[in-house]
Amino acid sequence: METGKEEIRIGVFVCHCGFNIGSVVDVPAVMEYAKTLPNVVCAEEDLYMCSSAGLNLIKECIKKYKLNRVVVASCTPATHEPVFRNACEEAGLNKYLFEMVNIREHCSWVHMHHPKEATEKAKDLVRMAVAKANFLEPQIEPELEINPSALVIGGGIAGMTVAMSLARQGFNVHLVEKEAKLGGMLRYLYKLQPTERDASEILHEAITAVKANSNIHLHTSTIVQEVKGFIGNFDVTLQKKGSNEHEQINVGTIIVATGAEDFKPVGMYGYEENENVVTQLELEQLLERGEFKKPKRVVMIQCVGAREKTGRTYCSRICCMVALNNALLLKKLCPDVEINILFRDLQTYGEYEDFYREARAKFINFIRYDQDKPPKVTSRSDGKLTVTVYDAYLDAVIEIDSDLIVLSTPLIQHEDGRKLSPILKVPLGADGFFFEAHPKLRPVDFTSEGIYVCGTAHGPKNVNESIAQACAAASRAAIPMATKRIKAEAVKASVDEDICVTCDACVVSCIFNAIEASSFGLPNIIEANCKGCGVCAAECSMGAMQLIHFTDKQIVAAIEALFKPKKLAGLGDSFEPIILCFACQWCSYGAADLAGISRIQYPPNVRILRVPCSGRVDVLHVLKAFQNGADGVIITGCLIGDCHYIDGNVKAESRVEVMKKSLPALGINPERLEIGYASSSEGQKFATMMTNFVEKIRKLGPNPLRVEGGGD
Ligand code: FES
Repeated sequence: METGKEEIRIGVFVCHCGFNIGSVVDVPAVMEYAKTLPNVVCAEEDLYMCSSAGLNLIKECIKKYKLNRVVVASCTPATHEPVFRNACEEAGLNKYLFEMVNIREHCSWVHMHHPKEATEKAKDLVRMAVAKANFLEPQIEPELEINPSALVIGGGIAGMTVAMSLARQGFNVHLVEKEAKLGGMLRYLYKLQPTERDASEILHEAITAVKANSNIHLHTSTIVQEVKGFIGNFDVTLQKKGSNEHEQINVGTIIVATGAEDFKPVGMYGYEENENVVTQLELEQLLERGEFKKPKRVVMIQCVGAREKTGRTYCSRICCMVALNNALLLKKLCPDVEINILFRDLQTYGEYEDFYREARAKFINFIRYDQDKPPKVTSRSDGKLTVTVYDAYLDAVIEIDSDLIVLSTPLIQHEDGRKLSPILKVPLGADGFFFEAHPKLRPVDFTSEGIYVCGTAHGPKNVNESIAQACAAASRAAIPMATKRIKAEAVKASVDEDICVTCDACVVSCIFNAIEASSFGLPNIIEANCKGCGVCAAECSMGAMQLIHFTDKQIVAAIEALFKPKKLAGLGDSFEPIILCFACQWCSYGAADLAGISRIQYPPNVRILRVPCSGRVDVLHVLKAFQNGADGVIITGCLIGDCHYIDGNVKAESRVEVMKKSLPALGINPERLEIGYASSSEGQKFATMMTNFVEKIRKLGPNPLRVEGGGD
């Protein structure tokens, strides 16, 4: 076969992975089968294809057989794709001309008791990869220059820590603070645990260091009005608050450290009605200023406005520690004070467990209350307060007189954070805080390259944790600034202008602002912003928008190859459905890998096709699968809220809903199409999802499009 002028010459390399694959899958049979596939000019097997002997074999074959496409059937690409891609590059083959098939985690390890079926499945997967390889194209990864300067938004302790860390490494830093003074919430704190150091001392040291560093350009009473550009080259417009004064700066990276604010429980437990009802933060200021009539009885109420059934459902993490800290400070100041802490659940992680023990030793009372029976506060005519609460341990309602009530309220995202999110085009999570790219793999990155987050802007944290995270964000931002150039992935959107009808569907669908309508109406792709999710390609009904390396041609070739040599499914007892599973390369593919690693078995009827995101799966792909004879199609992606491209899985879900409505017109039962979600730690869930889907399709029988005159 030839595409253009080039003769396609594919080499297939099948790995035994010791016993891991070879003890279940008949590797020599798969290798011999590969030789029969179109354009395959060589097929080899090896005990360990990733060993230096195996990699040398690949390199030698590339030269000997003049291979211009390579397919390796072995373990998961999550760990080994870079190894094989390197080998290809060392032999002079562009790494985008390489395709990988997972016949270990997705085959031998999950079908350990079905060697015959596992071998057939391995052949299918190799055939699909070879079909896709025919349409692979070499790519050049663009290089981006990085301006080695940073914008830090927020002048609290997190922002000042990032600024200092980067400035000390020699980078120029613009530190922007909306208030006239630096310090953020630290200005309102008193003594910090575990050292009982004055917050004002830490604040003073940090501000002095920031002001003394000539690499830091301080912009107080300033907000970020507009941000354009991409990693290495962000054009930022700053605005002086309360004036029309603007300043234009250019930076290579941006760090969001805008902090949070504490929730004001107006209308709850007498707050703002009785001056003796205060929040923990207000208590700290009273303690610090010393303007404080020593109380005899204090009640602290935890989880006020937090962990609600709707709205602020999250736990603010630090309130229990803050309450313990303040209760112990009160005890120090007035040893005779009686303190009752009303809690729902107490969380004192790490060394803070010691503070809980100390509080118990100092006779601070802890009373557990029920969320459905919250405490009631009544103001008496003498100005005193009475708290009535159902004590869950005593199974009785008790009354406590008090002359000070302290409410532990959660940290919440403030207005500025909400305004900044669309300006930077970075997401907020369901709790309103900034949402990182991945909680474990990229905990201080946003999905948008070159933008990082730290401190309470990201979620409730204490000062120590904010400082630690600020150091992490500074390290992440320093990497591209130190290297001054980075290579961007070549998996990007690409438009065929001859087909495009300028409908703007791609522009609207791109959450990363990577596509804009040009003056001629044609979409203009801003490569540096494109994350390679493929959502725009799936939304383009004309097929004009494509995702490089995951084009419609390549995906459809793999789908058609899966069904080409299959006989029509029988209607009798021997019917074995063939299921096509699209898996996003992040979570659901990882879940399938984990099912394999954990040896969780599921029926061998499922063939997994890797896509960058579930949002890449086009209506065309699903229809092609059914037309060619798929008995069932299941699209799998990250859990809702966890998509690595923010909402690709939500878009996939709506597309599935629409497709389900149209499938009956084609004679296809909509039950044959499903969407499912699993995080990469949910191997069991993935296996169960596959098992259940196979069973459902088994009951529905063969795809009627494969049976003459059929219909569901
Ligand atoms: Fe997994 Fe989008 S990346 S569904």
